[in-house]
Amino acid sequence: MTERKRVIVGVAGGIAAYKACTLVRQLSEAGHSVRVVPTESALNFVGAATFEALSGHPVQTTVFQHVDEVLHVRIGQEADLVVVAPATADLLARAAAGRADDLLTATLLTARCPVLFAPAMHTEMWHHPATVENVATLRRRGAIVLEPASGRLTGADSGAGRLPEAEEISTLANLLLDRSDALPHDLTGVNVLVTAGGTREQIDPVRFIGNRSSGKQGYAVARVAAQRGANVTLIAGHTVGLIDPAGVDVVHIGSADQLHDAVTKHAPEAHVLVMAAAVADFRPSHVATSKIKKSHEPGHTTDAPAIELTRTDDVLAAAVRARSDGQLPNMQAIVGFAAETGDANGDVLFHARAKLQRKGCDLLVVNAVGEGRAFEVDDNDGWLLGADGNEVALEHGSKTLMASRIVDAIGAFLQRRDG
Ligand code: CTP
Repeated sequence: MTERKRVIVGVAGGIAAYKACTLVRQLSEAGHSVRVVPTESALNFVGAATFEALSGHPVQTTVFQHVDEVLHVRIGQEADLVVVAPATADLLARAAAGRADDLLTATLLTARCPVLFAPAMHTEMWHHPATVENVATLRRRGAIVLEPASGRLTGADSGAGRLPEAEEISTLANLLLDRSDALPHDLTGVNVLVTAGGTREQIDPVRFIGNRSSGKQGYAVARVAAQRGANVTLIAGHTVGLIDPAGVDVVHIGSADQLHDAVTKHAPEAHVLVMAAAVADFRPSHVATSKIKKSHEPGHTTDAPAIELTRTDDVLAAAVRARSDGQLPNMQAIVGFAAETGDANGDVLFHARAKLQRKGCDLLVVNAVGEGRAFEVDDNDGWLLGADGNEVALEHGSKTLMASRIVDAIGAFLQRRDG
């Protein structure tokens, strides 16, 4: 049995402290040993008893409790990961200054493992030069400071500063436990356009032709790229109810035509296009304006109506063409996806290599699909094929881990072009 990872959840004093309860639960359910270290003011929002019950560990806030156990040094030294959620402006300032005036900041100073801050505060505080500098200082020292989500804040206002959903924080925490170097802040200034999910082609007002894409892989790429500092726009088709990734502009679309229009609109700004969406190749030639009825007339024919189909545009191929025609001068990397089964003509890689040639993209992410593989599941594996002939196997793991490998490959590709 693999050893349980020790995760410290630091909680600072902000209203979003209540979301830390869900985070603690999710990390415990993932099999980790979780210990909560709140600040004194966090306990104004959530009681110590709640954190103790959820984590199964006692909760202290100061270095003067259980002094004989030297907790202010031991907790940090023994941790595999420290997650601070919510990280308030005050907590970020104290961490950046290297203070050790309570158990949480003392823990941050002794921790040698990855440290993940999930900020939550009002937009003005987040954009204040003091906070901006503190965040930059922490990132420079190797800490991961997440981009906050945008949306409704406490009170009537809204903007950047919401704590990302607990699920998003635990996903990224698990990624760091898998790969401690997964989230360098190295893509600032890079505009990344990602498509994800499945399109739906309307037949009549109640029916459509869809596909089994969950959207998970594309969302994971968008999430990881944004947390590495990229400006990410995500064009999202149908998904299995995924939450919008924090710090990402999300454009929701329905059909292949709408996806094409959205890509055409956003591609001129993009440096990178990642086509993870499962785009329908065909759509009904005519959309019925009212529901197609089966006849209830006695003796009426039971023949099923035929649905005539029309080819949709190939969005990926169109982007490759537009770039070579000089219409996308900013575009540096175009990444396609291929879900293949293999058949009598050849295996998965045989078909994938042919697809890479046909599509003309720079990188192709290849997944073998079939029962319980790739679609709707959380884990994945595959290959990354480069137009330069480079082929890398992507080890089996979470779709977030795969996304981090894909974003690595994109980063390396951009660097090779620059260099
Ligand atoms: N794609 C696209 N537009 C389409 C269909 C697919 O941009 N109308 C993109 C997908 O987002 C993906 C890549 O093309 O990045 C490969 O998709 P796939 O469906 O595997 O390709 P097809 O060309 O449809 O190949 P096949 O003959 O296997 O159906």
